[in-house]
Amino acid sequence: MNNKRITIAIDGHSSCGKSTMAKALAKRIGYAYIDTGAMYRAVTLYCLEHDMIKGDEVNKPRLRRHMPKIEITFKVNNEGKSETWLNGKNVEQEIRGMEVSSKVSLIAAIGFVRRAMVAQQQVMGKEKGIVMDGRDIGTVVFPDAELKFFVTASAQVRAERRFKELQAKGDTTTTLEQVLANVEERDRIDSTRKESPLRQAPDALLLDNSNLTIEQQNEWLYNEFLKRVKQQ
Ligand code: DC
Repeated sequence: MNNKRITIAIDGHSSCGKSTMAKALAKRIGYAYIDTGAMYRAVTLYCLEHDMIKGDEVNKPRLRRHMPKIEITFKVNNEGKSETWLNGKNVEQEIRGMEVSSKVSLIAAIGFVRRAMVAQQQVMGKEKGIVMDGRDIGTVVFPDAELKFFVTASAQVRAERRFKELQAKGDTTTTLEQVLANVEERDRIDSTRKESPLRQAPDALLLDNSNLTIEQQNEWLYNEFLKRVKQQ
């Protein structure tokens, strides 16, 4: 295998296991992994903490003024897992809760937020050797990525997976119906927003994992990586 490092973009719908597979692939091939959804989640948490969201309304002029003060970084913890930090605080748990999940699409639809995140992501990936997961990685952040995937699964399957995750974390109040409604609402907002709507890049490989085990999809992904690297 030649050693040329490439850029791998993994886009797709919410809660279809993109980050699990992206992380596993990055670890296996010794690449860095960046979860760009965590960045939009961290901005959302910042907005909630600073009272900038009322219902479905975001105080955009205030958020715009605050953008330079929002510093998002990733740090590897003692177990070797990457965690999200916001202005010096570990927010990995908080950004995965229902409050942030139910507001993050509003924040991810704002043009000036996206431009700031995309610019940071392009810096993070400029040395290549990176697996980045999100919604616009293969279309906007790295349109020239050597390997692109577009991942999807049915809304029901995704809601069930997310529900199990929440339960495992001790959430006993959220129902499966609420999670399904949240998944469908996020799909709608993500695919119909004006700014970088969720789209499959023409050169992205489609992966529907509704009926695949995690091991099966990891193998498929790894084999596609090997094929692509041989062609470089
Ligand atoms: O992947 P996730 O569920 O953690 O993403 C959270 C939200 O951020 C989701 O509504 C889509 C949005 N997002 C985005 O617009 N662009 C990205 N590159 C990553 C996530």
